[in-house]
Amino acid sequence: MKVGVGLFSSLLLFLLMGEVFAQRPRPKKPTRRPAPTRKPFVPKRVVPVGPEPQEPTDFPPPILGPPSIYPDCPRECLCHPSYPNSLNCENRNLRVVPVIPFRTHYLYLQNNYISELTAEAFNNATDVRWINLANNIIHRIDKQVFEKIPGLLYFYAQRNQLNEVPLGLPTSLEQLRLDRNRISKIPAGAFTKLENLTLLDLHYNQLSDSDLGKNTLKDLKNLMQLNLAHNTLKKMPIGVPNSLIQLFLDKNRIDDIPKDYFKDFTHLAFVRLNYNQLSDKGVPKAVFNMTSLLELQLAHNQLTLVPLFNNHLEHLHLNHNNIESINGTEICPFSMTADLNDDRLVPRLRYLRLDGNHLHPPIPMDVIMCFRHLHSVVI
Ligand SMILES: *[C@@H]1O[C@H](CO)[C@@H](O)[C@H](O)[C@H]1NC(C)=O
Ligand SMILES: *[C@@H]1O[C@H](CO)[C@@H](O)[C@H](O)[C@H]1NC(C)=O
Ligand SMILES: *[C@@H]1O[C@H](CO)[C@@H](O)[C@H](O)[C@H]1NC(C)=O
Ligand SMILES: *[C@@H]1O[C@H](CO)[C@@H](O)[C@H](O)[C@H]1NC(C)=O
Repeated sequence: MKVGVGLFSSLLLFLLMGEVFAQRPRPKKPTRRPAPTRKPFVPKRVVPVGPEPQEPTDFPPPILGPPSIYPDCPRECLCHPSYPNSLNCENRNLRVVPVIPFRTHYLYLQNNYISELTAEAFNNATDVRWINLANNIIHRIDKQVFEKIPGLLYFYAQRNQLNEVPLGLPTSLEQLRLDRNRISKIPAGAFTKLENLTLLDLHYNQLSDSDLGKNTLKDLKNLMQLNLAHNTLKKMPIGVPNSLIQLFLDKNRIDDIPKDYFKDFTHLAFVRLNYNQLSDKGVPKAVFNMTSLLELQLAHNQLTLVPLFNNHLEHLHLNHNNIESINGTEICPFSMTADLNDDRLVPRLRYLRLDGNHLHPPIPMDVIMCFRHLHSVVI
């Protein structure tokens, strides 16, 4: 139990840190000034406005800061004296990558209007470890870009306009966020040799079953988090490394899980399959009976039966299915026979969601008696 909770909270913290690093709202495009309310006419001196922009553009001009104590700090970025290795160029209406000083390890370029990455711009990026390019309009990345950044650990390019996973990613990479793009293709070899990649986020793209071949993810021997939610998968992805701890597949069109799908995943703790097309037929009886599993989310599917699960499971989401009744003997077979003083046998379920079903009677008494650790049930 302690191990489980520790794992859960450290993973949660890990995720939250990622979010903080990743998220900052884009500055609003300047909106048209509201029509002035009627005022008494006062003749005004006409103040000349700035020069007309050279080319008509949808994008507001880059925001320049005051000169920095670092002579090599680009005017459109901030170089904080206490963080000499960070280059902060986020929220500056940038259209191109600025001149990167050699000392840069952390490059913040999120919330701009950068449309492509050329290798040349990264000539001096030899020591860069983190790049955040979230929320730009990138549609093209030169394959040679990553040759310039051989020690890159985090590459965040969520919320852009990429059509495919970029090629040439450095083998040092640990985290790759490409969610909320338009990715419909994973070129052959895109993930080869990325043996240190722990996080791969591809949610909210246009990936289908044929994009994930047997060998696509094969080299990712240390992958812990895989997010393929909001794509158009009809099958469970194949060739997923068994180092995985977290698998998110919500909002796809999956209607069937092969019987032995999870057999080799000995670390898998979090599985989300909300908003798919799973019915009882597509969920083999003991498919989720894994001792490592802590959280299982199957909301918004078409199940009429509660699937069997292991007594290590702590969180179960079954809301918005077609469940009409629960057979206590089936889902909690320990209740009658087990010695409930033996803590290993007591089911660890703590949180259960069953709302949005057609339960009558709501929950049988023997189920409540059996799940002695249950502290929230949503019905
Ligand atoms: C690389 O650094 C040199 C020396 O500071 C500078 O002249 C050059 O413009 C930089 N190139 C890029 C692409 O940042
Ligand atoms: C992977 O990480 C280990 C441990 O940090 C490191 O020694 C190794 O060089 C890394 N592999 C690559 C390809 O960068
Ligand atoms: C579920 O897994 C446990 C081991 O954790 C095993 O004892 C039990 O027989 C399994 N149940 C089914 C129905 O496969
Ligand atoms: C519940 O399941 C058990 C074991 O499968 C079965 O013997 C029993 O008849 C079921 N009870 C109901 C009310 O369906």
